[in-house]
Order: sequence, then C-alpha cells, then structure tokens
Amino acid sequence: SAEDKLDYVKSKIGEYPNFPKEGILFRDIFGALTDPKACVYLRDLLVQYIRQSQPEVEVIVGLDSRGFLFNLLLATELGVGCAPIRKKGKLAGEVVSVEYQLEYGSDTFELQRTAIQPGQKVVIVDDLLATGGSLLAASELVRKVGGVVLESLVVMELVGLDGRKKLDCKVHSLIKY
Ligand code: PRP
Ligand code: ADE
Repeated sequence: SAEDKLDYVKSKIGEYPNFPKEGILFRDIFGALTDPKACVYLRDLLVQYIRQSQPEVEVIVGLDSRGFLFNLLLATELGVGCAPIRKKGKLAGEVVSVEYQLEYGSDTFELQRTAIQPGQKVVIVDDLLATGGSLLAASELVRKVGGVVLESLVVMELVGLDGRKKLDCKVHSLIKY
C-alpha cells in the first residue's frame, strides 16, 4: 500500500546531526535514493500524488540541486516538460533572479525567461521544506516569467520551522518531521 511504501522510504532517509552547521539536523534524501526499492516507491508516491492533485500540470520546476532528482523523473512520467531553477550564474540567456534566505544561509536563484510560457501551469518540486525561503523564491520566479504556480511538492517537511506559513501556494509533503 501507499502507507507501506512511505514507511519504507522514511526508514531509508539519513539523519546527520550538526551538518552542514552546528545545530542543524540534516535529513539526507540520498540515504533513500541509494536503495533501489525506496527509489521506485518514492517515484510512485510522487507521481500518484501529482496525478490526483494537479492533473492539469504542464511544467515541473525543480530547485537546484536536490529538486533536479525529481523534476525530470516526474515530467517524463506525466508527459510534461520540466525546468530548473538554479543558483546564480549557471543559466544561459535571459534570466530572472531573486535573493532568498534558507535554514543555513542566503543565496540567489535564477530561472530562464524562456523556460515557462505565459499562463503555463506549474508544480514546483524539491526534496525538503525547511524555512520556506527557497520555495518562496521559486514561486516568485515562476510568476515573474508568467507561469501559474498550482502547487509545491516536497518529499520532507520540517514542520517546526513553519515554512509553509511563508508560502502563498498550496504545499504538500510526503513526510513530516
Ligand atoms: C536545501 C534543500 C532545499 C532548501 C530548503 O537546499 O534541498 O532546497 O535547502 O531550505 P529552506 O526551506 O529553508 O529554503 P540547499 O540550498 O542546501 O542546496 P542543495 O540542494 O544544492 O544542497
Ligand atoms: N535544507 C535546509 N535544511 C535542511 C535540513 N535540515 N536537512 C536537509 N536539507 C536541508
């Protein structure tokens, strides 16, 4: 069942105290992705969720860098396009930019102007929601190029940091800590 799959994935996610900084408990998605069964289960759970929640999605946007593990995967499963949001200076051509704060620092995200057509319906994916700074910046970028953010989807959510309060779109997480 979906619940068994989720329990299995959860059991494979790594936990590293004081990484990358003192006081941060790092939740490591790669613990699950190095396990073949957890990979397939995670794919099934994410695909099934978007199919029922956002059947009209047209573009899956993934966040640098762990969101890239999921945007192409989901796009090919759903038969839609995908696009990357990258840290500054990496994307060619005309880009839109926004600076943001995250659980352990600050950075700048960029999106190519041509990545999304005006009016296209977008789901944003990432591995983890912490303070919400990254997803907030991502939805701002999608809107700047004319996209419509239907929903954000993450594998894990650190509920205690209240990240979803910052966001003005629907948010779904598979696993809550
Ligand atoms: C991590 C994580 C999310 C973000 C969440 O990425 O993959 O993208 O932080 O934090 P927030 O909700 O507080 O914004 P990070 O910036 O560490 O980059 P990486 O994926 O390249 O490791
Ligand atoms: N990104 C922001 N906070 C994180 C955490 N605690 N574990 C993994 N990735 C993160």
